[in-house]
Amino acid sequence: MSNSSFNYLGNNLFVESISLDLIAKKFGTPCYVYSQAMLTAAYKEFDSAFAKRDHLVCYAVKANSNLAILNLLSRFGSGFDIVSGGELQRVLKAGGDPQKIVFSGVGKSFDEMCAGLSANILCFNVESEAELEKLNNAASKMNRIAPVSLRVNPDVDARTHPYISTGLKENKFGIPFDEAEKIYMSAKRFKNVRITGLDCHIGSQLTELEPFIEACRKMLGLLDCLEGQGLKIEHLDLGGGLGIRYSAESPPSVKNYIAALCAEIGRRDQRILIEPGRSLVGSAGLLLTRVEYLKHTPYRDFAIVDAAMNDLIRPALYDAYHEILPVVVDSGGSNRTKIYQVVGPICETGDFLGHDRELALNEGDLLAIMSAGAYGMSMSSNYNSRPRPAEVMVDGDCAHLIRERESLDSLMFSEVILP
Ligand code: LLP
Repeated sequence: MSNSSFNYLGNNLFVESISLDLIAKKFGTPCYVYSQAMLTAAYKEFDSAFAKRDHLVCYAVKANSNLAILNLLSRFGSGFDIVSGGELQRVLKAGGDPQKIVFSGVGKSFDEMCAGLSANILCFNVESEAELEKLNNAASKMNRIAPVSLRVNPDVDARTHPYISTGLKENKFGIPFDEAEKIYMSAKRFKNVRITGLDCHIGSQLTELEPFIEACRKMLGLLDCLEGQGLKIEHLDLGGGLGIRYSAESPPSVKNYIAALCAEIGRRDQRILIEPGRSLVGSAGLLLTRVEYLKHTPYRDFAIVDAAMNDLIRPALYDAYHEILPVVVDSGGSNRTKIYQVVGPICETGDFLGHDRELALNEGDLLAIMSAGAYGMSMSSNYNSRPRPAEVMVDGDCAHLIRERESLDSLMFSEVILP
């Protein structure tokens, strides 16, 4: 856990200068806990890796869309990558600069396009000719010119989980590489769009540099070709996707990743955009949960905890691994470790947070599910009518509640019983 703000002091796991035990007492469980220092360091690492090159880090809001996180990043000067009208509204509410927003996504609605246009965002990343036409209509209705980047699918294998691999030709994303030039040239017929950039995104949780480099080379080849045809491309958006370490992975460092991209780009003068999500917030958050029951059967030992797949769906959905740490290490030695299945209370066998974890546990103990800052809370649901957890941001020795635990009333607020 080097470079981490989650460390043991004695037998107690701390986030920055506060013990997780204290956070559980104050805010209850399950609860997402974030380290402001780690978030800050992650953003600064990206920003400084570009050195003097003109660039914009556009945080992928889908990874974690809490307003406090968006606000923190916007104060650092971050841009944002959004994929819905809801994310647009969040960024604006959090004080984000519209001129630093790029709008991605394969199925933007007419209304979402209008919202982006009226906010005067930096760019729409367009994924098909039909979308280009719809955007042109929206812009024409609003008497605007829509700035556009085409998202091109470079047909590169990201070598990640198939559900989060997006840059293969059989995926639903982007414009096929071989059609990109034709569509770029034909975009001239749309009077209310203006081509400003070129974009790609090949997948998420990439742990190797090569696929990024391969995609970058293909994009640069296309960029040179478009410029050769007289098109002015002002920016190149290379998407997000850099992986983090959940267990034994060793993803490239931010510094090496950006340096490798910049080396490929060379002297070209386009502004470089990047859309990291997970690598900015993933390691900076954990899910704090309490053991409700220990259940020992002749076949398995279960730790039934108060967090579940509705709070963190990654294990159930992608068979994802999250390290699980005891908040207070058992030092008595009286408690022999067992191999536990760490599971939630939801009525599905797929409701697990970790399989085969060696832990020494008592009922009532606290556990920390690590590296849950990205795609944790943002993918949570109310399945089994479970209120979503609270979210807490720790800054040194201060713990701020940045989202209240949902109330049962709020779950049913918008429902109607027929007379
Ligand atoms: N840009 C675009 C267009 C994207 O689709 C994504 C992620 C990103 C940027 C940010 O990628 P990142 O830097 O976070 O890898 N729920 C999955 C991850 C889905 C990623 C979807 N797109 C998970 O929990 O692993």
